[in-house]
Amino acid sequence: MNSEPYLKELIAQCPALGIKAIMEQRFATLAELLSTGNCPRWLQVFTQLPEPGSGRRVFDENAVRFIADHALNSTDLEVFKSQLLAFSPWRKGPYELNGVFIDSEWQSFMKWNRIKGRISPLKNRRVLDIGGGSGYYLYRMVPEQPTWMVSVDPSALFFYQFLVLQKYLQIQNMGFAPLGIEDLSPLCDVADTLFFMGVLYHRRSPLDCLTQLHRLLSSEGELILETLYIDGDDPVCLCPEERYAVMRNVWFIPTISCLLSWLSKTGFKNCEVLDTSTTSFDEQRSTEWMGFQSLKDFLNPLDPTRTLEGYPAPKRVVIKATKNI
Ligand SMILES: C[S@@+](CC[C@H](N)C(=O)[O-])C[C@H]1O[C@@H](n2cnc3c(N)ncnc32)[C@H](O)[C@@H]1O
Repeated sequence: MNSEPYLKELIAQCPALGIKAIMEQRFATLAELLSTGNCPRWLQVFTQLPEPGSGRRVFDENAVRFIADHALNSTDLEVFKSQLLAFSPWRKGPYELNGVFIDSEWQSFMKWNRIKGRISPLKNRRVLDIGGGSGYYLYRMVPEQPTWMVSVDPSALFFYQFLVLQKYLQIQNMGFAPLGIEDLSPLCDVADTLFFMGVLYHRRSPLDCLTQLHRLLSSEGELILETLYIDGDDPVCLCPEERYAVMRNVWFIPTISCLLSWLSKTGFKNCEVLDTSTTSFDEQRSTEWMGFQSLKDFLNPLDPTRTLEGYPAPKRVVIKATKNI
């Protein structure tokens, strides 16, 4: 069994031409990425999934849903659930497919609710979600009718989750690129709205990263940046010594004033803080669909305002900024 036909189809359907060209150039590397580790198992389960048949799709509720006209019987429902569980961990969601509720680690609608209605309308805009995972936020954008939507995320698991979701949700002008932001460096002016959420603190060079985001935007473009921040008025940032909330790949967590300074230095205009929040155990938690440890295991049990390492517990800010004045 071979992932190449699915990768070819994904590339053929990618509505963002520059990104499509990069995937074509890197076909051999991507095919390799999508056939190692757990990929053969995911591919096998994917090919055995039941056909969706006719049904209704819901994108404007907390859970993105496919409701089949003919429900599965209880035996088939159990089989289908075990097939979907094979694609765990489901980090973002929730989804409901054919009667199975995928209770993801993150209640991603909480983040979406902090953003929607506060950004420029997405109708007729080209939307990139870099680090967008299996596409939860893109599905939530469907009612707004963007020109197209693409999630760029290097995770092989999210590629397979996207294949599963698209089998049932079937949105034509939506794509997934199994690439990292660094792979997009040859591109400029590809998106009118660019979401970059939960990724900046994973980048070793946040200023270079923001400069790249600025280039990726069209002249009327808007960036929606969501990231961790620390309290404080000075333009400084936390540089965790080894781990932050157990994660080894967290490099810089700025104050909001530091973040605004980074945005200004990299050319962004009209920066506006849309929201700040403290991540709660309601929003991020272990479930049957994400059996590993989650937020509550990463905070000090005696003082949940601190991580296990003694740093401030995660707080997140959403900032909207434009490319030009
Ligand atoms: C903390 S999650 C955030 C997911 C989602 N954007 C959200 O806000 O809920 C970080 C995401 O970034 C992706 N990622 C990791 N390295 C990346 C890179 N170099 N370029 C783009 N995405 C990356 C991960 O696979 C993961 O899906």
